[in-house]
Amino acid sequence: MTTAIHGSGRCHVRFTFFVCFIVALAGLLFGLDIGVIAGALPFLSQDLHINNQQQEWVVSSMMLGAAAGALAAGWMSARLGRKFSLLTAAVLFIAGSLFSACSPNVASLIVARILLGLAVGMSSYTAPIYLSEIAPEKIRGSMISMYQLMIALGILTAYLSDTAFSYSGSWRWMLGIITIPAVVLFIGVLFLPGSPRWLAARGRYQEAQKVLNMLRSSSVLASKELEEICKSLKTKQSGWSLFKENSNFRRVVFLGGLLQVMQQFTGMNVIMYYAPKIFGIAGFTSTSNQMWGTVIVGLVNVLATFIAIGLVDRWGRKPTLILGFLVMALGMFALGTFLHLGALTEFQRYFVIVMLMLFIVGFAMSAGPLIWVLCAEIQPLKGRDFGMTVSTSTNWIANIIVGASFLTMLEKLGSANTFLMYGAMNIIFIVLTIMLIPETKNVSLEHIERNLMTGKPLRELGKRD
Ligand code: BGC
Repeated sequence: MTTAIHGSGRCHVRFTFFVCFIVALAGLLFGLDIGVIAGALPFLSQDLHINNQQQEWVVSSMMLGAAAGALAAGWMSARLGRKFSLLTAAVLFIAGSLFSACSPNVASLIVARILLGLAVGMSSYTAPIYLSEIAPEKIRGSMISMYQLMIALGILTAYLSDTAFSYSGSWRWMLGIITIPAVVLFIGVLFLPGSPRWLAARGRYQEAQKVLNMLRSSSVLASKELEEICKSLKTKQSGWSLFKENSNFRRVVFLGGLLQVMQQFTGMNVIMYYAPKIFGIAGFTSTSNQMWGTVIVGLVNVLATFIAIGLVDRWGRKPTLILGFLVMALGMFALGTFLHLGALTEFQRYFVIVMLMLFIVGFAMSAGPLIWVLCAEIQPLKGRDFGMTVSTSTNWIANIIVGASFLTMLEKLGSANTFLMYGAMNIIFIVLTIMLIPETKNVSLEHIERNLMTGKPLRELGKRD
């Protein structure tokens, strides 16, 4: 039977590519929904007559939904399957995009953004896990960084489409156009196989074998992998009880949360959500300048992610992170200092933009992808689902705090001090990285787990004996 279904020749490569492409689309939608609001906000604020506080809520209501979506996905993708969870996310992406495009007032826009948030949160938990369960071992590591690349690409695409629609000021089209990739995601997910690991965990071994036959180059390889999956499944997921009983596990759950707080408090999303506004503060007052500047921000974010993909397995996580935080601190300090000067000369205005780009490079080459990589690596097998649910939800809660407080901070502290504060945060993160973050390059996950459970300090989790 296995040979009959087995995708021989190039067939399995094409099928694996198709599966990875569809799942990566979820990353693209994640990015589209994060990115789209920056360009739409100025137009919809004018149109719907909304104040700063309401704008903050339009931005951060999506993150609120995402935190809940990540929590729900932890449960849903374990019980009902990764595919079901992705399908639900796709439906919510469609509903949220349509609903936000047709919103008659700010209240319904906020509800629509919560729906989109649920979709984003669900896919931000499910897609990386599904990818890691479906990808062949050799490319499993790079997949997580690739996923980040898709997020960055989504943000860039949103900025480009916002710019195109900005000439007519049509914010409804900016938000509504996302329905198209969401429908593609929905149709694509219908054709996805179930995750072999999830199927095996449910005792559906034959189906798991069938899926692996389609994904791997030979049925021998597929059977071997299924055997390994069955072996690893002997370790039952028992996140909550492990959390209550085991202080070593609690330490690493804490570390996962801290890593995500660090990623968010770099200040990256302040720029992602409010880029045109920041260009305005720097003296670029025309809408077209602001929109194109924002596109360049998105492009730099995509390109610099390649630096991380190249460095992560050569340099290691820790030095790359430290360098990234340093670059981000420099960028934020320079921004803050120049904005203190008040009216800027033309040269100074461009310098501010260069510093903004420097900050983006710092994030995309380090904290952007690496935090997701580290969060996936440090959790012990037994508590992986639980640990990932906690860290992914923390990412979104921290994201809300950053998104919801930015405009208030601008009002209360002024733009210069706000950026200086984010600069200081990045310096603190360098210290935290040195003190607490382990180097996990070239270390097996089993080894990290052993170090954790024998009580080694967090920063030594990747240490060889
Ligand atoms: C972060 C998002 C951020 C994006 C920017 C992701 O890793 O979790 O909050 O907007 O990177 O590229």
